[in-house]
Amino acid sequence: MSSSLRIGVVGLGIGQQHLRCYQEIEGVEIAAVADVSQKAAEKCAAEYGGQVFTDMNVMLESANLDAISLCTPPRSHAELTEAAAKAGVHVLCEKPMAPTVADCDRMITACTEAGVHLMIGQKKRFHPNIQRVKKLSEDEFGPVRWAVCKYALGKVDKEWFWDEKDGGGPLLENSIHTIDMLRFLMGEIKRVYAEGGNFFAPKFAPQLDVATYTFRFENGAIASVGSGMASEWAFANDHFYFALDGAEIRLQGSFDRPDGWWLGRRDNPSKPEEETLTGIDCFALEIKHFVECIRSGERPFVTGEDGRGSVAACLAVKESARTGLPIEL
Ligand SMILES: NC(=O)c1ccc[n+]([C@@H]2O[C@H](COP(=O)([O-])OP(=O)(O)OC[C@H]3O[C@@H](n4cnc5c(N)ncnc54)[C@H](O)[C@@H]3O)[C@@H](O)[C@H]2O)c1
Repeated sequence: MSSSLRIGVVGLGIGQQHLRCYQEIEGVEIAAVADVSQKAAEKCAAEYGGQVFTDMNVMLESANLDAISLCTPPRSHAELTEAAAKAGVHVLCEKPMAPTVADCDRMITACTEAGVHLMIGQKKRFHPNIQRVKKLSEDEFGPVRWAVCKYALGKVDKEWFWDEKDGGGPLLENSIHTIDMLRFLMGEIKRVYAEGGNFFAPKFAPQLDVATYTFRFENGAIASVGSGMASEWAFANDHFYFALDGAEIRLQGSFDRPDGWWLGRRDNPSKPEEETLTGIDCFALEIKHFVECIRSGERPFVTGEDGRGSVAACLAVKESARTGLPIEL
C-alpha cells in the first residue's frame, strides 16, 4: 500500500459528497474519478483532483488505487464491486447495497475471497443520536421494545430510482435508511407485515411509493414504520420514537438529520432532557471510518452482511405490501 491512500470515486452524483469528505482527510489522495459522463468526471476532477475515467475497469487497471467509493445506481453495484475486489481494491458501496439479495451475496463473496473490505454506506448508523440510543439500550435503559418511525422523502424523478431492477422505488432505495437503523438498534427482523400503494407518483405506477408496516424482531420487540415518497423536500423530516425499559427517546429533525434529542426517564418523568446537535455530517463520519478501517485492517462497522440484511427486509416490506401477506424472514 502506498503511503498516502489512493482513492477513486465512481459515480459522481452523491459521489461528490464522498469527494468532499475524502478531501478533508490527511494522507488521502483523490487519485481518480469515474463516471460514464465524461463531463461529470471532468467537472469533479477540476474541483477535487484525480485522473478522469469514463470506465471503472480502465480506472482499476491504471490508477493504482487502494480503495473506491462506489456511488453508482444499485443495479451496477454487484458487477463493479466484483471488479474492484478482483483488482484488490477496498470498496465503500452506497446504499442500497443492491436490488437483490443474490447480488448482495455476490458482493460479499467477491470481497471475502479477495480479502478486501466491503463497507455499505448506511450513514444513519453513524449519527451520534442513533449511536447514543444504541449505547443506552445496551446498558442504562435496557432494550428498545417498541419503535415508531415516520420517514418520507421529497420528490425524486430519476428513472433508475423507480426501476424494480435498480433502485426498486422509495421503499428500497430510501426507506432502507430507517430499516437499517432499526436493525442496528433492535436486531434481526423476524416478521414483516405491510400495506402500501402508489399514491403520489402515478407516473411510476405500479411501483409502490409509500407503505405502512410492522416489524416483529427476533428478540420480541416491535416497530411500526411509515415511509416512502410522500413529502415535498421543503418539509420532509425524520421522526423516530423509541420506548426502552427505562426511558422514552424521541429523535427528530429535517430529512436525514435526526439532530433533535428528547429523553424522558421513567424514574424521573417530570424532567425530560432535550438538546439539538449541530454540525453533524454523517457522510464525513462514515468516510473517516472507512479510511480508518483500511489503515488498521479493522472490520468496517457496516458490513456487507449488514447491507444484505437491510435489503432483504426492504424487499420483504414490498412483497408483503403486494401480496397482503405477512412475510417471515
Ligand atoms: N447515503 C445517502 O444518503 C445517499 C444519498 C443519495 C444517493 N445515495 C446512493 O448513491 C447511489 C447513486 O445515487 P445518486 O443520487 O448519486 O444518483 P445519480 O443518478 O445522481 O448519479 C449517479 C451517477 O453515476 C453515474 N453512473 C451510472 N452508471 C455508472 C457506471 N457503470 N460507471 C460509472 N458511472 C456510472 C451516472 O452517470 C451518474 O453521474 C445510489 O445507490 C443511491 O441510493 C445515497
